[in-house]
Amino acid sequence: MRDSGLTLWFTGLSGAGKTTISKAVALELKKRDCKVEILDGDIIRTYLCKGLGFSKEDRDENIRRIGFVASLLSRNNVIAIVAAISPYRSTREEARQLSENFCEVYVKAPLDLCASRDVKGLYAKAKAGEIQNFTGISDPYEPPINPEIICNTEEESVQESVNKVILYLAKEGYILVPYNEQIIECAI
Ligand SMILES: Nc1ncnc2c1ncn2[C@@H]1O[C@H](COP(=O)(O)OP(=O)(O)OP(=O)(O)O)[C@@H](O)[C@H]1O
Ligand SMILES: [Mg+2]
Repeated sequence: MRDSGLTLWFTGLSGAGKTTISKAVALELKKRDCKVEILDGDIIRTYLCKGLGFSKEDRDENIRRIGFVASLLSRNNVIAIVAAISPYRSTREEARQLSENFCEVYVKAPLDLCASRDVKGLYAKAKAGEIQNFTGISDPYEPPINPEIICNTEEESVQESVNKVILYLAKEGYILVPYNEQIIECAI
């Protein structure tokens, strides 16, 4: 069992499922008595990063601040779960360098599917030109090249994605392995 925390970084398009999966993963980890904190992009932008916009510079600053806080938490044995679009590969790599233990989870879903989910109604606005710099529509998204985990939310259920993450953390020794039956079933 490792004695240190971890930065568990979920990246992907808006609507891909980062918040949904990260909350469910946090619940599973809390059941195992892990110390967990979620740094969700939307909430962070309301507090720590209030005032930052969506230019490349501001997006990078947003991610740097999140990466810094995650590194502080993870070095104090917390599993810091980040759920942020984090569109730029090089900025995610910077975040990786800050935390001794880092795991990148690519929450993968096709743009059309994310747009059809349109959880916040933002894709419709972006397509209508009412929102500028919208990732996937009018701003880039650079997918990870070699993420530790891929959650393909077009094909997997939320539970399958959660199991995948929990199994990875167990395999890497970040958490103990008190499997529940559901997880074993999905792992086979
Ligand atoms: N397999 C799946 N995994 C995750 N979410 C799924 C899955 N299938 C359907 N969904 C749905 O997709 C939506 C994903 O929304 P969510 O808010 O989690 O996205 P997000 O990546 O956090 O977006 P944003 O970057 O805008 O915050 C939810 O409504 C969720 O119920
Ligand atoms: Mg979200």
